[in-house]
Amino acid sequence: MLQKVAVVGAGNVGATAAQRLAGKNLARTVVLIDVLEGIPQGKALDQFQSGPIEGFDTRVIGTNGYDEAAGAEVFVVTAGIARKPGMSRDDLVKTNAGIVRSVAEQIRRVAPAAIIVVVSNPLDVMCHVAMQASGFPRERVLGMAGVLDTARYRTFLAEAMDVSVEDIQAMVLGGHGDTMVPLVSYTTVSGIPVTQLLEQGKLDAIVDRARNGGAEIVGLLKTGSAYYAPSAAAVQMVEAIAHDKKRILPCAVWLQGEYGIRDVFCGVPVKLGRKGLEQIVDIRLTAEEAKALHASAEAVRSTMVALG
Ligand SMILES: NC(=O)c1ccc[n+]([C@@H]2O[C@H](COP(=O)([O-])OP(=O)(O)OC[C@H]3O[C@@H](n4cnc5c(N)ncnc54)[C@H](O)[C@@H]3O)[C@@H](O)[C@H]2O)c1
Repeated sequence: MLQKVAVVGAGNVGATAAQRLAGKNLARTVVLIDVLEGIPQGKALDQFQSGPIEGFDTRVIGTNGYDEAAGAEVFVVTAGIARKPGMSRDDLVKTNAGIVRSVAEQIRRVAPAAIIVVVSNPLDVMCHVAMQASGFPRERVLGMAGVLDTARYRTFLAEAMDVSVEDIQAMVLGGHGDTMVPLVSYTTVSGIPVTQLLEQGKLDAIVDRARNGGAEIVGLLKTGSAYYAPSAAAVQMVEAIAHDKKRILPCAVWLQGEYGIRDVFCGVPVKLGRKGLEQIVDIRLTAEEAKALHASAEAVRSTMVALG
C-alpha cells in the first residue's frame, strides 16, 4: 500500500479515480485537489464516509492547495477542461497546457520524488508539459490512454464474440486520439489469434468503434466526456505502481529512439512497477502497424509544435 496518492482535478474523472483508489485500499491517504472551493472537500468527505460500508480505511482529504499532498508517491493529474461535443482533443491544448504546467510545478514543490500519471487531454502533449514543468525524468511521467483505448477495444471484441473480456488479450498503441493503433496482430482470445475467430469486416468495424470510443460517449452525454472507464484505467496504472506488479501496459511515455521515434510522448507497451516506467518493451510490428505508429507520433508532435 502507498502512503499517499493525490488526484488533481476533482471533476468526473478525478473524483471517480479517488473513490476507486480508496475502494481498492491502494493508499493510506488519498488527497483530492481542485481549484473550486468546497468541491474537493465535499466530494472527499462524502467518499470518506463510504469507507465503513465499502470496507476501506483510506483517509480521503479534499483541498484547494498542495500542502496536504506533500510527499505523495503518485499524482494522478486530471485537471483541465473536458471535451465538449464537436470539440477535438486538440482544441483543448492551450487551456489545459497552462493548467497542467501549474499543477506540475506544484507537484515538483511538494513531492519531488513522485510519479505523475497524466490523464488530462490532449494526453500526449500534456505529458510533455508535465515532464517539462516538473523536471522529472521520463521514468516518472506516464500518460494514461492506451489502457483505456485497449479496454474499449477488448469490450467490443468480447461483445462481438460473446466471450469473457478476461480472455481477450490486446494492446492499443500510439497517441490518444483518432490516430491510435490497435494491434490486431497481437490480439488473441485465450491465445487464439482473433483473425481466426472474427471476419475482417467485423474486426475493422470494432477497431473503428474503439478509435471513436471517446467521441461516441461525448455525443451521448452532450455535457461532458467519459469518466468511468478512464478513471478505472488510471487506477489500474496506479495499482501496478503501488504493488510493484511489473505489469506490461500500453502507456504514453517519452520515446528516445524506441520504435524509431524520438522526443515525443507516444503510447507503447511498458513495464510498470514501483519506480514507474521500468522498461519499454520493443515488440515487432507489421509494416502497416509501424507506419501507423509513426504517423500517430507525428500527429502528437505537430500538436506539440503548435503549442510551442
Ligand atoms: N487520457 C484519457 O484517456 C482521458 C479520458 C477521459 C478524460 N480525459 C481528460 O481528463 C480531463 C478531466 O476530465 P473530466 O471529465 O474529469 O473533466 P471535469 O471538467 O469533470 O473535471 C476537471 C476538473 O479540473 C479542475 N481544474 C481546472 N483547473 C484546475 C487547476 N488548475 N488545478 C486543479 N484542478 C483544476 C476543474 O475545476 C474540474 O473540477 C479532461 O482534460 C479530459 O479531456 C482524458
